[in-house]
Amino acid sequence: MSLTGLFLILFLIVHCYVNAQIFMMDDGKSFNEAAHFMGTNFIIRTVEFGLFFFLGLHIVQGLSLYFKNQSRRPVKYAVSAGNKTSKWYSRSMAILGTLILLFLVVHLANFWAPNRYEQTFGAGEKDMYIEMKNLFQNPIIVAIYLMGCFSLAWHLVHGFYSAMQTLGLGTHKYKSMIKSIGWAFSIIVPLVFALMPIAFITFLK
Ligand code: HEM
Repeated sequence: MSLTGLFLILFLIVHCYVNAQIFMMDDGKSFNEAAHFMGTNFIIRTVEFGLFFFLGLHIVQGLSLYFKNQSRRPVKYAVSAGNKTSKWYSRSMAILGTLILLFLVVHLANFWAPNRYEQTFGAGEKDMYIEMKNLFQNPIIVAIYLMGCFSLAWHLVHGFYSAMQTLGLGTHKYKSMIKSIGWAFSIIVPLVFALMPIAFITFLK
């Protein structure tokens, strides 16, 4: 889980960086150039298969871990230990993961699927900046994206440190440093993503 999770973290960094080009305030020129490269480069398109494979694998691993944990204790505790033993986000990884999955289904249907369809059967490529601009005029869609970013943040807060621990990097010496990097990453990346729909519904209208 930690390795597939780290691969997805790398993807998020690249995706966030490319999308953040919308803040260059040049009517999407820089963003569309970067999106064109990402959407047509042979190596990136090949890595895309890996991305979907790792995403699927991460979900299957997460679900199997969740059900294994459940079945380990067929008779539940009479009193739940609640927050005494674990923070709520740690116990909610499955719920947050499911919310992210629901967000991803909507998200891929919004951008990825229509663009790949256009590239394969249509006139070429869609203008992703215009697509974003149009889509994010709908407050319901903006709310769904903000929910997705919020779920992602909490999922990462636990997932990042957990991955490091599994890889043996969460030892005493580096514990506080890794925790700080994890918190910073988990807040900054989803925040930058969240600012995108907010930007289009406000000042990039
Ligand atoms: C909230 C702001 C976001 C915006 C505006 C955005 C925008 C886009 C766009 C335009 C594409 C299509 C790229 C293409 O045609 O190749 C895309 C693809 C994708 N996005 Fe996002 N995205 C956002 C957040 C996220 C988040 C938070 C995740 C993950 C949790 C995510 C996961 C993906 C995936 C898996 C793909 C398909 C991968 C690919 O194109 O190779 N996105 N996104």
